[in-house]
Amino acid sequence: MKLTLKIWRQNQGAATGAIKEYPIDGVSSDMSFLEMLDLLNENLVHAGEEPVAFDSDCREGICGMCSLMINGQAHGPEVTTTCQLHMRSFKDGDTITIEPWRSSVFPIVKDLVVDRSAFDRIIQNGGYISVNTGSAPEANAAPVPRPKAQRSFNTATCIGCGACVAACPNGSASLFLGAKITHLGELPQGQPERYERVTSMVAQHDHEGFGGCTNIGECASACPKEIPLDVIAQLNKDLRTAIKQGH
Ligand code: SF4
Ligand code: FES
Repeated sequence: MKLTLKIWRQNQGAATGAIKEYPIDGVSSDMSFLEMLDLLNENLVHAGEEPVAFDSDCREGICGMCSLMINGQAHGPEVTTTCQLHMRSFKDGDTITIEPWRSSVFPIVKDLVVDRSAFDRIIQNGGYISVNTGSAPEANAAPVPRPKAQRSFNTATCIGCGACVAACPNGSASLFLGAKITHLGELPQGQPERYERVTSMVAQHDHEGFGGCTNIGECASACPKEIPLDVIAQLNKDLRTAIKQGH
């Protein structure tokens, strides 16, 4: 395939950037989106130009690093991570616009790389269990009803990619927050810190500058792990209880 790529270029520390156009030839439909960018960078290096900076790590849909807006959609046209998106989703002659995540809370480091450490600080403010839960055999012996175990597992699949924030017109991280609250709050081990956790994580979310949720639902549509919108209802329910209990 022959494609035209329109890519956001911004130097490290520069206040502004711009979209630059790059023609690319020899793209196979079997390539992943990131392999296509690798090919572009090889061409740029051979031409003596600066390669495009973008993030990736596992390239298996696990780490959540590969955050790109592709033609205005977080992670592109399929419900998957950018690393799991394949070029067969595009056709010969296409023009593809590639931008970094859209969120002032995720500042641009360089080109397509953004700083998502705001998520790390939310996790540091309660996204864990610190009570003594015993040894592995004791954990295995603690009964967890199947629907709760299933819901906890499903919400634990959130990879912290930030697509929910990039897709949300309010720049809210409520889906991410709801996933973490639900994952830990469904388990017996998560109960002692449940309500302290929710107030602390929500306070950090707001402190970072993420917006509020107005039930638009773009987050759940963009989420590569299909985290359902009702985790935000769980988040609000736990927050109300926490406030009633004086946390
Ligand atoms: S909720 Fe979904 S979109 Fe948001 S950070 Fe987690 S995996 Fe990514
Ligand atoms: S590179 Fe790890 S999820 Fe895409």
